[in-house]
Amino acid sequence: MLKFAALLSLTFLIPAFVDAQASLYAQCGGTGFSGPTTCVSGATCVFSNPYYSQCLPGTASASTVAPTTTAKPTTTVSTGPTTTPVGTTTVTSSAPGSTGTPVAGNPFTGFTIYTSPYYAAEIQAAVGNITDATTAAKAAKVANIPTFTWFDQISKTPLLGTYLADAAAKQAASGQKYLVQIVVYDLPDRDCAAAASNGEFTIANNGLANYKTYIDQLVAQVALYPTVRVVAVIEPDSLANLVTNLNVAKCANAQTTYLAAVTYAIQQLNTVGVYMYLDAGHAGWLGWPANIQPAAQLFSSLFKSAGSPSFVRGLATNVANYNALVAATPDPITQGNPNYDEQLYINALAPLLTSSGFPAHFIVDQGRSGVQNIRQQWGDWCNVLGSGFGTQPTTNTGSSLIDSIVWVKPGGECDGTTNTSSPRYDYHCGLADATPNAPEAGTWFQNFFVTLVTKANPAL
Ligand SMILES: *[C@@H]1O[C@H](CO)[C@@H](O)[C@H](O)[C@H]1NC(C)=O
Ligand SMILES: *[C@@H]1O[C@H](CO)[C@@H](O)[C@H](O)[C@H]1NC(C)=O
Repeated sequence: MLKFAALLSLTFLIPAFVDAQASLYAQCGGTGFSGPTTCVSGATCVFSNPYYSQCLPGTASASTVAPTTTAKPTTTVSTGPTTTPVGTTTVTSSAPGSTGTPVAGNPFTGFTIYTSPYYAAEIQAAVGNITDATTAAKAAKVANIPTFTWFDQISKTPLLGTYLADAAAKQAASGQKYLVQIVVYDLPDRDCAAAASNGEFTIANNGLANYKTYIDQLVAQVALYPTVRVVAVIEPDSLANLVTNLNVAKCANAQTTYLAAVTYAIQQLNTVGVYMYLDAGHAGWLGWPANIQPAAQLFSSLFKSAGSPSFVRGLATNVANYNALVAATPDPITQGNPNYDEQLYINALAPLLTSSGFPAHFIVDQGRSGVQNIRQQWGDWCNVLGSGFGTQPTTNTGSSLIDSIVWVKPGGECDGTTNTSSPRYDYHCGLADATPNAPEAGTWFQNFFVTLVTKANPAL
């Protein structure tokens, strides 16, 4: 429901295992692997963990791919999805970008957040179409507010390398430490309970293997830029759908694949030191008393069965949603839920996580939460009419549980189309409290953006 992803030619995605040499980004070794162990020209087979080696770009010695030498503890894979016991295999210095131990505290502290050139270009184009000078000046400021970049198609993964290289250059030029914010969002049978953001991969057509290739490509990019910190939101809506929407056939069918895919994602991103926040829906979804304990159980059981990857920092809430962090008074639509804002939800969820062994740290999306009490139902999520930009990203959150207020969804990009003939039409986008005349999800929605600007709270 969150973001657009076009279908790609699947021929692009299927690794060429029939070749004598593995293709770029393909697997080239690991326990139980029977395919080719050498890579095509221009790529080198790089050890990742006892179960996985991968063809990464370059013919240089593996040490240039893995500039850090701290060995990743083998315990991070010992309870993973494969049942083969971890042997005594030495983790060599060729482990890609293994960054050892995460920092103890807030991973945002002390870092300059990279701003996406793509979003800045969208803002620049939008500003050019605003005739009112005051509004245009306010709109222009949005280009300097960091948002997350959504990797919602495998074809976009090289863009991560472009951004990391740019951030590394800015870091070198300024002496400031840079942090790049990404959303990992390409599960097979994605968005199983809605229609607007279904993705490019299907479970029926090799989806899990394709997803692993997608993750491998992100990991390969991160490994090349070990000096730049990466923070990731992992798979918006996926685990929340498994808490509450298993009555939807597509979600029930996706359950085992989602769990395997998210497990793979967090294990692999852990090897290159990506700080991760799993998506945890929002107060009006998992914050209901009947859902909050099952949610905590799902997050902690997945985390533990993945080997408790040390770079999993916590959970992300309210991603692409419209809830307040702290509501002055409960919105009438939240009636009956004691956790009527994100702070209350987080405060209620944290002890349940802590007691079950999951790290209770949070980031909260406030990108479009500036105006409250404008929805007719709490479940309304599509281009909410009258929305304003919310509190700008800050680590001054007022809560020791919350690492940062963030803008995950780039405001102005559409949640879903109002075109009832579109295959991706979702009825939420046609409701009276959704902004009319909306284009397809993920594309620019000028009227919606202008409203976000003019109703921003605090003002831009
Ligand atoms: C902005 O204006 C240009 C030229 O007038 C037009 O082609 C484009 O579609 C407009 N973009 C938006 C987002 O309204
Ligand atoms: C609505 O969607 C249909 C089906 O995809 C398409 O043919 C039509 O052009 C769209 N209408 C508009 C106004 O975009």
